[in-house]
Amino acid sequence: PRRIILDCDPGHDDAVAIMLALGSPAIELLGVTTVGGNQTVEKITRNAQSVLEMCRRQDVPVHRGSARPLLREVHVAGDIHGESGLDGVELPEPTVPVAAQRAVEFLVQTVMESEPGEITLVGTGPLTNIALAARLEPAIIDRVREVVIMGGGYHEGNVTPVAEFNIWADPEAAAIVVDAGWELTMVGLDLTHQALATADVEQRIAEIGTDLAEFFLGLMAFFRRAYQENQGFDDPPVHDACTIAHLIDPSVVQTRRAPLHVEIRGDLTRGMTVADLRPGTDLEGCRTQVATVLDAEGFWRLVVDAVRTLG
Ligand code: BDR
Ligand code: CA
Repeated sequence: PRRIILDCDPGHDDAVAIMLALGSPAIELLGVTTVGGNQTVEKITRNAQSVLEMCRRQDVPVHRGSARPLLREVHVAGDIHGESGLDGVELPEPTVPVAAQRAVEFLVQTVMESEPGEITLVGTGPLTNIALAARLEPAIIDRVREVVIMGGGYHEGNVTPVAEFNIWADPEAAAIVVDAGWELTMVGLDLTHQALATADVEQRIAEIGTDLAEFFLGLMAFFRRAYQENQGFDDPPVHDACTIAHLIDPSVVQTRRAPLHVEIRGDLTRGMTVADLRPGTDLEGCRTQVATVLDAEGFWRLVVDAVRTLG
């Protein structure tokens, strides 16, 4: 299986990403690192623990990460994820304490103690921890297998017309991560807005009939209302889980190679991800790609299977 560390800010769709990673035999989740984003890092860390409890996988360590972006102020997404960051469900008390080691040190240590090309880093929140890890130990850049992020979009934004939340929240960190030189896939809004939790999907989850399936439905009910009220959507997009689906089965998420950069200065464009998709662009040595087309049925089959497998 793919050995991954998930750096996240659960968050309804981050929670689905955790379930998908734990429920798929193609993935080995070595640890969850948390970052302030959808809510404060205290709430996010507890949410990560609660989701692992729900999945009965308390053996997966949770390492607490950055409380705030590198330069910017904290802006949580309470309108989308609620006061707790995971509104809509009862969150079980964690039975295992948070690991003593902090997120950035765990990221560095795990990559350096593994074989070169073994560890994949997945980022589904602001990229503060991954940027700090690359600065603390630059040797990880050549050593990781690849980095997959949910963030940005080559044609779409959500916080602003051109900026997506995870990138907008810490654009300097995103610029460090995107420019680092490792193999990187950006799973942006262009792709994740195709991953909609429709009534049909909920029906399939409901048929599983477990506590975890109930938990999933509670999360989606809140998430749907938030997306209807704040983003003009009928059904909520389960952004973050698309990164894991891409690793489980690359045919589910089509990608296209393109030079990629993050705008950190523009008055109107701060946090924009700029992909050079011009046909004549020289792609020699290009190590970045962007996700384009989702096989939505294939994606939901993976998610439903994972929830069923977790029991
Ligand atoms: C991203 O922002 C967060 O609200 C979600 O968890 C996702 O990672 C979507 O813009
Ligand atoms: Ca997230």
